[in-house]
Amino acid sequence: MKTYRSTLNSMMLVILVWQLGLFLQADAQIPDACLLSSTYRPPDNSDINVTCGTKYMDLSIYICPVYNVQYNESMMVLNNIMRNPQCYGKADWNVTPPVLKFRFPINETSLTDCGNKFQITDQIGTGQFSDFSKVQFVNISGSIMSVDLAAGMITYRPQIQYMFSCKYPMQYLINNTQLSV
Ligand SMILES: *[C@@H]1O[C@H](CO)[C@@H](O)[C@H](O)[C@H]1NC(C)=O
Ligand SMILES: *[C@@H]1O[C@H](CO)[C@@H](O)[C@H](O)[C@H]1NC(C)=O
Ligand SMILES: *[C@@H]1O[C@H](CO)[C@@H](O)[C@H](O)[C@H]1NC(C)=O
Ligand SMILES: *[C@@H]1O[C@H](CO)[C@@H](O)[C@H](O)[C@H]1NC(C)=O
Ligand SMILES: *[C@@H]1O[C@H](CO)[C@@H](O)[C@H](O)[C@H]1NC(C)=O
Repeated sequence: MKTYRSTLNSMMLVILVWQLGLFLQADAQIPDACLLSSTYRPPDNSDINVTCGTKYMDLSIYICPVYNVQYNESMMVLNNIMRNPQCYGKADWNVTPPVLKFRFPINETSLTDCGNKFQITDQIGTGQFSDFSKVQFVNISGSIMSVDLAAGMITYRPQIQYMFSCKYPMQYLINNTQLSV
């Protein structure tokens, strides 16, 4: 999922921003892998894959749409936590189309250090958990957001945001991870 937020509201600003845009566009380095890729287009909701593993949560995001709106991998960070290098992804240019990958272990430090949220919900058990009349689930969620590195810079780009969530049975997390939900 993405959300665009426009910060432009006056004509003057639009013109100023347009000029800045031209200047920065000339400056931007677009990797060849993106120029040649069919994913070099504006971002779309389907650009993210989420794998809710037993030990890790893995996110994969097409990287070319990120370049298309003039961001790069150094500007995409988990939940805006810019100070922690672990909250950034790694670009993988060896796959087609190229992707930006995030992997974080399902443990307390790793999840909370990057600002992910936990929500506990009660549900009637099904499948493996149908023995229980009520099963608690934990929904781990967050988002990958674009940030502008130069503080105070006029933001002319739309902000992009990819939201993700994984739902685990509470009992599984308690038994198998270092999570004290
Ligand atoms: C998501 O998975 C599908 C099916 O495996 C694949 O075709 C697609 O390229 C993946 N997208 C990303 C962003 O990794
Ligand atoms: C991303 O863009 C910023 C600002 O233009 C630049 O400082 C940084 O080196 C770039 N990162 C990569 C990986 O190209
Ligand atoms: C969480 O995972 C990170 C990375 O694998 C590891 O360094 C850290 O020790 C783990 N924390 C706990 C409490 O297990
Ligand atoms: C998990 O929480 C997020 C954020 O509140 C929400 O958008 C998402 O729909 C929830 N997912 C499930 C499976 O409940
Ligand atoms: C969690 O551990 C308890 C006690 O060891 C066990 O009875 C239960 O089946 C386990 N639940 C899961 C989901 O692994």
